[in-house]
Amino acid sequence: MTKYHPVIIALHWLLALAIIFMLLAGSLMLSETPNSDPEKLNALAIHMGLGITILLLTLIRLAVRLRTGAPEPLEGTTPKQEQIASVTHVLLYLGVIAMGVSGVAIALSADLGNIVFFGSGQPLPKDFEAFLPYEVHEIVSSALIGLIALHVAAAVFHQHFIKDGIMSRMSFRNK
Ligand code: HEM
Ligand code: HEM
Repeated sequence: MTKYHPVIIALHWLLALAIIFMLLAGSLMLSETPNSDPEKLNALAIHMGLGITILLLTLIRLAVRLRTGAPEPLEGTTPKQEQIASVTHVLLYLGVIAMGVSGVAIALSADLGNIVFFGSGQPLPKDFEAFLPYEVHEIVSSALIGLIALHVAAAVFHQHFIKDGIMSRMSFRNK
């Protein structure tokens, strides 16, 4: 096997776009909008809906990955490099799952499901600082941004400098 399963490839790129969007929009827009702003409910509805979708699709992707495995190691990589890649990939999965679970935990502890999706009419809390899962959500989001930067830098380095065709493993094309 020289490529990941097609379901993994499709979900990798769909989720990459969605996760990068959520990380940027979450830290640059959502967290900068005060909870008293009337637009906040709409922004939270989009963020929470997309966040839950990302969590479910990541769990599906992980299940497919565990059943279908990974392609053979890239030619020319040492066992140490393969180990670093595997650890980074596991941390990427764990990071995304931790974002989804901590997000759902904020929603449950602040009753956001009823306020945002079912129009309960209760006000939002002043902010989310007092909620422990929010701390986790914030810290993991910074760690995930760092990991993704490392992951993308490694992919670009392999593709353009080592020229070992790494991208074809995560692509429907052969180059
Ligand atoms: C947008 C830039 C990105 C590029 C260029 C990229 C590229 C790649 C490539 C080439 C692989 C295959 C590596 C190999 O095994 O040889 C891969 C795997 C992987 N990528 Fe990305 N990726 C990107 C974004 C992301 C994001 C945002 C995430 C999640 C937060 C992510 C998570 C993963 C995971 C978990 C794997 C391992 C797949 C598995 O073993 O199931 N990637 N990526
Ligand atoms: C799984 C992917 C997710 C990503 C990548 C993500 C990303 C982010 C980021 C970057 C922030 C800003 C953190 C900061 O203050 O710097 C944030 C805030 C937040 N997220 Fe998520 N999130 C995800 C899922 C969820 C889910 C599933 C929920 C709820 C169901 C949720 C609820 C929230 C809430 C309530 C905030 C606080 C907004 C504020 O500060 O006013 N997130 N998220």
